[in-house]
Amino acid sequence: LTNSLRDSFGRTHNYLRISLTEKCNLRFVVSSALLSNLRSALFYSMLCTYCMPAAGVPDLTPSSKLLTGQEILQLASVFVKQLGVQKIRLTGGEPTIRKDLLQIVEGLNALKPYGLKSIGITTNGLALKSKLQPLKNAGLDQINISLDTLDPPMFELLTRRRGHQSVLDTIHASLETGFSAVKVNTVVMNGVNDHEVPAFVEMTRNNNLYVRFIEYMPFSGNQWSSRKFVPYKTLLGNIQDRYPDRNVVKCTDDANDTSKSYRVMGGSGAEEEAFIGKFGFITSMSEHFCGTCSRVRLLADGNLKVCLFGDAEVNLKDVLRNSTGADVAAIEEEVIQVIREAVMRKKEKHAGMDKLAGMKNRPMVLIG
Ligand code: GTP
Ligand code: 5AD
Ligand code: SF4
Repeated sequence: LTNSLRDSFGRTHNYLRISLTEKCNLRFVVSSALLSNLRSALFYSMLCTYCMPAAGVPDLTPSSKLLTGQEILQLASVFVKQLGVQKIRLTGGEPTIRKDLLQIVEGLNALKPYGLKSIGITTNGLALKSKLQPLKNAGLDQINISLDTLDPPMFELLTRRRGHQSVLDTIHASLETGFSAVKVNTVVMNGVNDHEVPAFVEMTRNNNLYVRFIEYMPFSGNQWSSRKFVPYKTLLGNIQDRYPDRNVVKCTDDANDTSKSYRVMGGSGAEEEAFIGKFGFITSMSEHFCGTCSRVRLLADGNLKVCLFGDAEVNLKDVLRNSTGADVAAIEEEVIQVIREAVMRKKEKHAGMDKLAGMKNRPMVLIG
């Protein structure tokens, strides 16, 4: 395939993640008075710092240096029409706070005749409910909602915001709106929310939900420690023990899925309700899936990041804005060249859990 984006290990990259903003509405300003009251280090680490450092992100990119909606669509069009991208996921920061979100989805939808097969979004769900139907109408196919606890006080503790019920309502409303997939993303942290894993699995009993437990990953400033890390096999074992009368079976995953999926089957009594949803694990740390990686990332500042854990980035916005190309085709040709070269430099796999913890990278909120 001439229009596919292959790296030096033969992996084809047909999944583009686009970060729409560096900001998140799930972030409070911590007053120093509050901070000084948080005596225990564990408590401190519970504030949703796994994504954004406790002190926030000091140097947000000025808006003139962020990709405009038009630039996002132009780059997406290059990725789809000329580089074979088939799947686009909008991320952030929190993508729903972007004012032109609907126009961006509509613009991406117009790429479907050219090979784009699905448009997804990953969101915290707080500002999503009123946008569900408009997003569906605009062409959005899949929604992944991040939710780390089913306990309302714990939600407030983690996020410092009210809104737990609203996120749950939005998950159910998303199911009713008829998206092709609705997933819940739960980052599991030892001693924080690992005891809630069974309750999350219970959510798949009557809902066609896919709940995914994500292994806690180290990013810049997120205070990752192996003490807070729980490998997926421990969680799977606990879930199996929880259903002695049922089988927990492995489901088939797509070749490039980030997650391993399972379903709770059967049951002892006919009156027992079926588990129509699935649960799964994103095992980036204990069993990386770099061998089937199909993902590249376009960050809000226009940087292309070919690996979640690599610090090598190239800026596509600058190429677009500064190109001396004679016409649009020539400018885009230059962009394509830069993309291909960056992907050819992509490493075979990430450096491994222990090395990653000290490596230079961005915080997750700036990656997506
Ligand atoms: P689907 O398209 O529904 O499969 O979603 P996804 O898993 O690709 O993306 P999502 O935004 O829901 O991310 C879920 C988790 O998977 C997050 O913790 C991501 O950091 C992690 N993840 C996503 N892409 C990658 C990747 O390329 N490498 C690794 N190691 N983890 C990833
Ligand atoms: N480890 C694992 N997953 C993370 N996410 C954010 N930070 C981390 C981390 N340190 C998840 C969010 C969201 C997805 C895009 O990434 O919870 O669901
Ligand atoms: Fe791909 Fe890098 Fe994630 Fe591995 S760590 S799956 S190579 S993005």
